[in-house]
Amino acid sequence: MTNYLANKKVLIGICGGIAAYKVLDLIRRLREQNAEVRTILTTNAEQFVTPLSVHALSGEPVRSDPMQHIELARWADIFLVAPATANFIAKAAHGLADDLLSSTYLATDAPVLIAPAMNQQMWEHLGTQENIKNLQEHSSKIIGPAIGSQACGEYGPGRMIEPNQILDYLNQQFMPRVLEGKRILITAGPTLEAIDPVRFISNHSTGKMGYALAQAAIQLGAKVTLISGPTNITPPRQAKNISLTTAEEMLNAVLENITNQDVFISCAAVTDYRPKTPSKHKIKKSMAETNILLEPTTDILATVAKLPNKPFLIGFAAETEQLVTNATTKMQNKGLDIIVANSVANGQGFAQDYNEATLIRKNHNRIKIAKQSKLSLAFEIFHEISHIFCETPQNFLKDRLANEFAKST
Ligand code: C5P
Repeated sequence: MTNYLANKKVLIGICGGIAAYKVLDLIRRLREQNAEVRTILTTNAEQFVTPLSVHALSGEPVRSDPMQHIELARWADIFLVAPATANFIAKAAHGLADDLLSSTYLATDAPVLIAPAMNQQMWEHLGTQENIKNLQEHSSKIIGPAIGSQACGEYGPGRMIEPNQILDYLNQQFMPRVLEGKRILITAGPTLEAIDPVRFISNHSTGKMGYALAQAAIQLGAKVTLISGPTNITPPRQAKNISLTTAEEMLNAVLENITNQDVFISCAAVTDYRPKTPSKHKIKKSMAETNILLEPTTDILATVAKLPNKPFLIGFAAETEQLVTNATTKMQNKGLDIIVANSVANGQGFAQDYNEATLIRKNHNRIKIAKQSKLSLAFEIFHEISHIFCETPQNFLKDRLANEFAKST
């Protein structure tokens, strides 16, 4: 991904957690990207990493004078706290300022990224969760934590995300807002179709890619509407969020929200068939075998493609074989501007955090995007194609004006 961190001033607050040692690597990588780095260590952090190592890697002495909070707060283009302990999170959420780090947090108007790291039970504690919600409402961005084995021997959410992921997040903050003012409608996740009141037909989609696209689009300046089937992901607060269950509900929600959208990204894995007559009562398992008669659902994307003032259309094609050929056929049949083809053979794609993709344009130009996190992939997709649909709104506007004119005469 392009480096946007050169000459950026990155202030890092390091708290007392075992993950502090990983921040040394992060500082090294930031310096490689030509970012300027200054650091604050809490007293507890000094038990885990020494001010000397941090100084050596950042090229700047660790800040410790409590009187420096205003100067540091104003200096920073971005403020990262990593690892952020439960204690720092609680103090920041309640506006406490009893050391240099917490005072600087209160005094800065730079964007703040917080990378929590703690025992899984401490993370799950209602007190911590309420504090996290508070920080998000104060516009701090919480990055992570990751789920995995912990230094204390337990397993669960609470690991600090890896330095390369933190680096990606920092970089993303400085990307040009190529989607400024664009209105983007995104569908995500699976849909579910009832067989009876307790059973359903669905697929393995988790919604990760669609939610990543929504998050990236928001960060790049777009106004996002996210229409999602059932997932376990928290929807981005800055989007208009609509959650629903069936393909028909998704179709209706899309049609209700499509007017004036500049781009429609259909990332949802919509169920292609639904039981024709779902049973009102739970089907008994006394039968040796049974049939469920299925009928096709409406193709949402193809329906939107037939609208008179259709937006720029991006579809997704999850394929197990002949990726490019099958995806290209889909793009043509559905009347799309771009299709994002990704392989779901051998367990790739669905439910994974990482993915790769091939973008295929209407004119058959192809761009391959290497394997990376779904969020990075989302940014790459927008960067590759923003110039295409950023040219088109004027055409849309022209079309719309022509239509309005036709209607009024
Ligand atoms: O034909 P296929 O389902 O493979 O096409 C995938 C693309 O079509 C995806 O972009 C998906 O969101 C969209 N789709 C849809 N409505 C359906 C089925 C698929 O919008 N009923």
